[in-house]
Amino acid sequence: MAQLITLSRYVLQGERAHEQATGDFTLLLSHLALAMKVVSREVARAGLLDDVLGKTGETNVQGEAVAKLDVLANEMLISVLNDLPMVAAIASEEDEHIRHTSAGRLTGKYLICFDPLDGSSNIDVNVTIGTIFSIRRRDETGCEATEADFLRPGSEQVAAGYCVYGSSTMFVLTTGDGVVGFTLDPQVGEFILSHRNMRMPDLATHWSANAGNSRYWFPSTHRYMGQLNSAEGRYKHTSLRYVGTLVADVHRNLLKGGVFFYPGDRRSPKGKLRILYEAHPLAFIVEQAGGMASDGVRRMLDVVPDGLHARTPLIIGNNQEVELYCNLVAADPEFVAP
Ligand code: AMP
Ligand code: AHG
Ligand code: MN
Ligand code: MN
Repeated sequence: MAQLITLSRYVLQGERAHEQATGDFTLLLSHLALAMKVVSREVARAGLLDDVLGKTGETNVQGEAVAKLDVLANEMLISVLNDLPMVAAIASEEDEHIRHTSAGRLTGKYLICFDPLDGSSNIDVNVTIGTIFSIRRRDETGCEATEADFLRPGSEQVAAGYCVYGSSTMFVLTTGDGVVGFTLDPQVGEFILSHRNMRMPDLATHWSANAGNSRYWFPSTHRYMGQLNSAEGRYKHTSLRYVGTLVADVHRNLLKGGVFFYPGDRRSPKGKLRILYEAHPLAFIVEQAGGMASDGVRRMLDVVPDGLHARTPLIIGNNQEVELYCNLVAADPEFVAP
């Protein structure tokens, strides 16, 4: 029988490999996993509960309609993290400002960013959604963290991960030493190691973008799509898949090979996706799996956000396809840098 390795056991093994580890990081990861198990349970029965599907009627700081599940997932993550003394502060897509935790506002050495529910437009139609998180260490403790502590390059992340609530629930994690995936056994209530060493296949079998935005694209993005659709060479079998949930699109491309792009365009040169809790964590994971992520001009992990909710174009996936986009942009006189 195959050996069953739970997420807890895997993370404890990781802790032993770090001599100075106090156990804080392990506890933090297991609590993040717990929050996601609860969100997964709510997602699985969402259609049966009156208070889970639909909008709240409010708009968030980004001006987007807030779904009930956005709020539920946000509250779940906050309530779990709020009690942890190693967490100083939290930045969430759903909150305008950072939140200091009750237990760790002074002592905590970690800062957590998350998108509690990614793919909100897919909630009510039972299509894959997810949660994305990023863990950073702050420079000093003994005082409250400030927003500036969060506005740092993605290369400073200690760990990043996501959970996809799809046909099964998967938890994917990097602590800077490759990427591993766990699948939730809902009856047992445990994440079980299912993907030991996730590496992007070399060939991009899919490209993913909202081509409905092509009316606003720069000429270089049109050229890019043209190349990805060409009938000859590397792309002759490449096809299109777009879920409209960033984390689901990136997850598929991580397993199958592919490139996701949400570029800047004439309407919004800075694109749509948010740096701290969408682009940075996914860029860390994809790089750790052997791929690349860029804003078209810079390596995504080198980008420093100028606000908690700052946006960025994102081109992420196989190296060759990310480089191709960057080369086309560099030769496009109409391109506006983010
Ligand atoms: P800690 O003292 O537990 O907060 O850990 C200190 C650092 O060691 C963390 O920030 C991680 O970089 C690393 N570390 C600790 N535990 C683990 C683990 N289980 N897996 C991977 N890295 C770990
Ligand atoms: P969120 O649901 O967290 O606001 O994120 C939505 C994002 C991302 O998940 C997805 O890739 C993108 O929006 C889809 O945007 P379009 O509907 O414009 O294609
Ligand atoms: Mn999102
Ligand atoms: Mn979201």
